[in-house]
Amino acid sequence: MTKETEDRVAQHYGQAGLEGRILDALAASGKDLDRLAADDLSPVDDFHTGGREATASLAEEAGFAAGQHLLDIGCGIGGPSRFFAGRGCRVTGIDLTADYVRLAEALSRRVGLGTMVSYRQASAVALPFERGTFDGAYMIHVGMNIEDKPALFAGVHRSLKPGGTFAIFDIMRTGDGALSYPVPWAATPATSFLARPADYRRGLEAAGFEIVKERDRREFALRFFAEVMARTAEAGGPPPLGTHLLMKDRAAEKLGNAVAGIEDGVIAPTEIVCRAMPSA
Ligand SMILES: C[S@@+](CC[C@H](N)C(=O)[O-])C[C@H]1O[C@@H](n2cnc3c(N)ncnc32)[C@H](O)[C@@H]1O
Repeated sequence: MTKETEDRVAQHYGQAGLEGRILDALAASGKDLDRLAADDLSPVDDFHTGGREATASLAEEAGFAAGQHLLDIGCGIGGPSRFFAGRGCRVTGIDLTADYVRLAEALSRRVGLGTMVSYRQASAVALPFERGTFDGAYMIHVGMNIEDKPALFAGVHRSLKPGGTFAIFDIMRTGDGALSYPVPWAATPATSFLARPADYRRGLEAAGFEIVKERDRREFALRFFAEVMARTAEAGGPPPLGTHLLMKDRAAEKLGNAVAGIEDGVIAPTEIVCRAMPSA
């Protein structure tokens, strides 16, 4: 993955002034900015299919426990990290997008979780951690932007303690048809690196993981998006606080293209939970 591709990915997501827009939307939703709770942020800070419900479901599948130190790969503005911190885990998040890393820090401090989480700007294919640092790791809707999955999986395996769980929830390719762009993770195919579940499984096994379970979340996703669209139509537009704030321009088109891809069977949000086998 070249530096140029990584810069393009970070530009796709980066957004100056996002904190102000989120705080304005929170105020417009009736929230007291001096007494914000982490859950108040959930409509905007779980930037993936299924939002908070999907994060909670992945947590259950992964079985992460209070007291564990988790690595969040591609942490975004920090929603999943605050979710796990709220359940007693210590979380270290890394992300390519500097604006997101700063905002993740600011939002976590604001909701009183600053001591449970820490963030740094880094690439998922060059993880800057000592061998065996983490009890567990997770990656939510990030792999679509990463071409070099062997390097990603090898780095995660090295950063985990032997036996550590790695939980993935990514959009994966499930059919041969064409996908229309833009989508929420990429403006064009140049920064979209969709892989099939079988490719993930092969790559994970080659890096030293044992596959524990896999779950196709297509039906869950279609129900989730149908509900979002019904609510939006009824209200005559999106609510003030939502992930459309993160999608910048052409948000409805990006989401519409992703939903069409899921409906057509070209892509599907998919979970894979695996375990790091001890290195030979
Ligand atoms: C769709 S967002 C998901 C954010 C977060 N995981 C969540 O679910 O709310 C994708 C995130 O992956 C990050 N990302 C993409 N490629 C990356 C890479 N190579 N290394 C680190 N982060 C990356 C982006 O900057 C962005 O924050």
